[in-house]
Amino acid sequence: MTNTSGFRGGEIHKSAYLSEAIFATEQVTVFTHSWLYLCHASQLPQAGDYVTVELAGQPLVAIRQKSGAIHVLYNRCPHKGVKVLAEAQGNCGRFLRCPYHAWTFKPTGELLSIPVKTEYDPCTLSACEAGSGMARVDNVVNYRDFVFVRLSATGMAFDHFFGDALSTLDNMVDRSPQGQLRVVGAPLRHRHRCNWKMVMDNQTDTCHPMVAHESSAGEAVNLWAQSGQQGTQPMAVELFSPFMSSHAFFADMGIRVWPNGHGHTGISNSIHKEYSSIPGYWESMVSHYGEARAREILGDTRHNTVYFPNLMVKGPIQTLRVIRPLSASETVVESWILELVGAPQKMLERTVQYNNLINSPCSMVAHDDVEMYERATDGLQSSASEWVNISRLYQVGEQWDDTRQTAGTSEIAMRNFYAMWQRMMENAHAN
Ligand code: FES
Ligand SMILES: [Fe+2]
Repeated sequence: MTNTSGFRGGEIHKSAYLSEAIFATEQVTVFTHSWLYLCHASQLPQAGDYVTVELAGQPLVAIRQKSGAIHVLYNRCPHKGVKVLAEAQGNCGRFLRCPYHAWTFKPTGELLSIPVKTEYDPCTLSACEAGSGMARVDNVVNYRDFVFVRLSATGMAFDHFFGDALSTLDNMVDRSPQGQLRVVGAPLRHRHRCNWKMVMDNQTDTCHPMVAHESSAGEAVNLWAQSGQQGTQPMAVELFSPFMSSHAFFADMGIRVWPNGHGHTGISNSIHKEYSSIPGYWESMVSHYGEARAREILGDTRHNTVYFPNLMVKGPIQTLRVIRPLSASETVVESWILELVGAPQKMLERTVQYNNLINSPCSMVAHDDVEMYERATDGLQSSASEWVNISRLYQVGEQWDDTRQTAGTSEIAMRNFYAMWQRMMENAHAN
């Protein structure tokens, strides 16, 4: 097989998870041609606020402009290539200053000044690339405060790339009585010894929670039962317990896939549906949206939404996870939390608790998954088989150009993801 033909129906070749050559290829083909999540606008409230991030191996900086717009620049001094900003976030003031020779730049990236500039006069700096300042990323979309970039000059337009998948972001924003979200704090970062796509597979793998999380979530259920207490469960038990739901529960809740690799679990039900109500929230939603619309917004119980290639959003609990590939066998998972502006503080408390209990490097649940990823990374070294199976509820001739839904225990979302992955690996420029 070549490094671009790793997916065949219900199977994915193990090299997709292990090969450094494939990793290098997908950084260019998949990641530069996709729309990648960069940051949330609430991280940049003031002019000059910035966040730095690396996407597709490219050091980038997003900066809030005086106009209110967010520009994205390559975080590289046009002089000798130094990263101009080294911190994860901050405020650049009225200009950016390179720490090496003190060239300065406007927040737009435009060159502002150079010490002893007259010494460049004979060679007309303006004719050099360096004279044009810090390069800017042209393809930036701020969708309801979620900032995405596409690094390639050519490729799908934002709306076409995501299509109806944007409904998950819409629903999460609409859950705020003011229609606004705010990032709270820094993300939890957890480094895994595995390929990034194993983490993406896991997001729609509904047949693992009741097995892999039995020792953590199952224990919480047992302890509560043994306590003999009745009535409202402690928040931690309420958050853990649904992980022990049956295969039938996950099958019934359904799964939906959209074109271009996106999809979500939880159409009619999800593990987030039965959380107890928090006083004041419903009333604030009704007063802002009216009862019918509030019911519609909160009735959407979708579980995990996978945005190709490396973002996962959980609307009902307001978290998102960014899966950052470092190499074929190293991945950092960032788990972010969002506050529903205008909602009671207890809503945020539940979101914080969920992130700590389920996603944190110190949680009990995340370790169950990490152990599976790392065992898979080791197990795939075996010569016993070349293929990983993702054929649950596979149908011969599956097509990937339309929205479809089926039983929630299907691995259709993984196949949908790999169909897109393979298409981009084979033909990045035809998108
Ligand atoms: S490398 Fe930035 S000013 Fe020289
Ligand atoms: Fe899990």
